[in-house]
Amino acid sequence: MKAHVVTLPGDGVGPEVTAAAVAVLHAVAARYGHEFSFDEQLIGGAAIDATGEPLPTASLAACKAADAVLLGAVGGPKWSDPNAKVRPEQGLLALRAALGVYANLRPLTVHPSLAALSPLKNEKLKNVDVLFVRELTGGAYFGAKTRTADTATDECKYTVMEIERVVRRAFDLARGRRRHVTSVDKANVLETSRLWRSTVQRIAADYPDVTVEHQLVDSMAMLLLTQPSRYDVVVTENLFGDILTDEAAALAGSLGLLPSASLGDGSAGLYEPIHGSAPDIAGQGVANPIGAILSAAMLLRHSLQLEAEAVAIEAAVDQVLRNGPHTRDIGGDAGTDTVRDAVLAAVEEHADAADSFFAGARACG
Ligand code: IPM
Ligand code: MG
Repeated sequence: MKAHVVTLPGDGVGPEVTAAAVAVLHAVAARYGHEFSFDEQLIGGAAIDATGEPLPTASLAACKAADAVLLGAVGGPKWSDPNAKVRPEQGLLALRAALGVYANLRPLTVHPSLAALSPLKNEKLKNVDVLFVRELTGGAYFGAKTRTADTATDECKYTVMEIERVVRRAFDLARGRRRHVTSVDKANVLETSRLWRSTVQRIAADYPDVTVEHQLVDSMAMLLLTQPSRYDVVVTENLFGDILTDEAAALAGSLGLLPSASLGDGSAGLYEPIHGSAPDIAGQGVANPIGAILSAAMLLRHSLQLEAEAVAIEAAVDQVLRNGPHTRDIGGDAGTDTVRDAVLAAVEEHADAADSFFAGARACG
């Protein structure tokens, strides 16, 4: 198939990990007979430096026209002056809003060979397989902001429509998994959360085959550490989802491993590793590219419907996590390119194995 992907490398380690993910997409295209075209655009601090804007019009137009967008990371100390007029993060938020990608999927699994890196006891990490569905275009992130010399406000607002569409996505996804949804809110205090909870209760009636549980966000923060394997799909509002997914990432051993997909109603999507720009290690060639590479796999699955290709990348990553090489954040000393090359080799191996399996099946059939 033909597909057009816009890349937004952004800041810090963003360009390094995005390059590795693009290399993997090139390899998949060559191996499976697809034609992927790539167009690199500016976002974040890099865009502020070049144009004064965190999301230049040209970048946004290119993203809107693309089949999918692959982003690295935005932000860094150079642009974090609290008095600055523009911030790199504004580019990312504006992009999420403009693309209408309201459902942010953040899968969490703990690779057995990395369980020792997690701060939790190994036995708690068995069978951890959670899919966070974070609302991404509403809540306090996008409400009205005010600021005077001694007061500031961030309005947190949700409409039923905004809650309903992301909650339905969570229930639909649960049907392809273990059919359990945990909805996280703060309904004992917040009005938006009471609207959230009653909306979830109403929608749950349409999914009698899916079990639902409600948790308050403070208690959920604890349960994620004490009983992580109990959860299947966890759906929550924007800010709670931001916080809980970083907490959950600690279970996997490194933030560098985790991918995300941000989806709207169409097939286009925005894909990014959940880690940030990691300015302390930027430019050194030591960043873990796996979160970005797994984001590319999600891109193939959700925007291009290329499931076999997505699985090939995931199987390749699994093999590299099992046998190495590993970057520093997961206890190794390999650089970004070494890990990328190992994933590329494993993708080829996986495709060869699949080819001979099907050749065998044809011979038998
Ligand atoms: C994330 C990040 C962003 C967010 C920042 C960079 C704006 O932390 O994707 O989780 O808060 O959504
Ligand atoms: Mg975050």
